[in-house]
Amino acid sequence: ARKIILDSDPGHDDAVAILLAVGNPNIELLGVTTVGGNQSLEKVTYNARAVLQEAHATDIPVHAGCDRPLVRKQEVAAAIHGETGLDGVELPEPTRPLDQGHAVNWLIDTIMAAEPKSITLVPTGPLTNIAMAVRMEPRIVERVKEVVLMGGGYHVGNWSAVAEFNIKVDPEAAHIVFNEPWPVTMVGLDLTHQALCTPQVQARIDGLGTDLAHFVSGLMDFFRKSYQNNQDFVDPPVHDPCTVAYLIDPSVVQTRRCPVDVELSGDLTLGMTVADLRGPEPSAEECHTQVATKLDFDKFWDLVTDAIQRIG
Ligand code: BDR
Ligand code: CA
Repeated sequence: ARKIILDSDPGHDDAVAILLAVGNPNIELLGVTTVGGNQSLEKVTYNARAVLQEAHATDIPVHAGCDRPLVRKQEVAAAIHGETGLDGVELPEPTRPLDQGHAVNWLIDTIMAAEPKSITLVPTGPLTNIAMAVRMEPRIVERVKEVVLMGGGYHVGNWSAVAEFNIKVDPEAAHIVFNEPWPVTMVGLDLTHQALCTPQVQARIDGLGTDLAHFVSGLMDFFRKSYQNNQDFVDPPVHDPCTVAYLIDPSVVQTRRCPVDVELSGDLTLGMTVADLRGPEPSAEECHTQVATKLDFDKFWDLVTDAIQRIG
């Protein structure tokens, strides 16, 4: 099984990413770290613990990380995820206490203690914790197997015309993560806007009939309304689990290798992930970054539904 650490800010779609990681036998979830993003650190950390509780996965540690971006003032996405960060469902009380120690220290210790290139980092929120970890212990860059992150987009934005939320709210952190020489896969909006939770998909999940299935369906009801009211979508794009799906089965997500950098100075383009798609596709030796392009919709939702069913 692939060993992963989810660094997240739950968040409706982060919650689904956690469930996919818990419920799929090809993934070994070593822990969840949290970062201020969709909501305050305190709220998203509670949410991560509550989602693990709902998934009967109280053996998974949760460490709280950075509460704000490296440089900029915090911006949360209450319009999309509500006041709690997981509006629309009732959250169970977590029985496992919050794990002690800062997420950045835990990330470093866990990576440095593990076999080299055995752990994959899966960030689905602002990249603050990962950037801090790199600065505190640069040797993690060669110890990590790869970074598969949700963020950015090469043709589209959602927090500005050209920038995506996770990158836009902490662009300096994103700049650090994209510029370190580890393998980075950017699962951006170009890909995740294909991961729509249609009424058919939701009915199939709800039809599993378990408490967890109804929990996910409740999350999707709220997420659908948010996207209808704020982003001119009919069905909500369930961004974050696309990263985990790619790691479970790479055929679910097609990729294209290309240089990617993060804009830090443009008045109109701050936080844009600029992908250079010119010319022939470079090799992995020439280029350490790649972008996700095309989703196999049916396979993706099969994986998510199957994980929810397995958890029971
Ligand atoms: C990203 O922003 C957050 O609101 C979602 O959880 C996702 O990680 C999409 O832009
Ligand atoms: Ca997220």
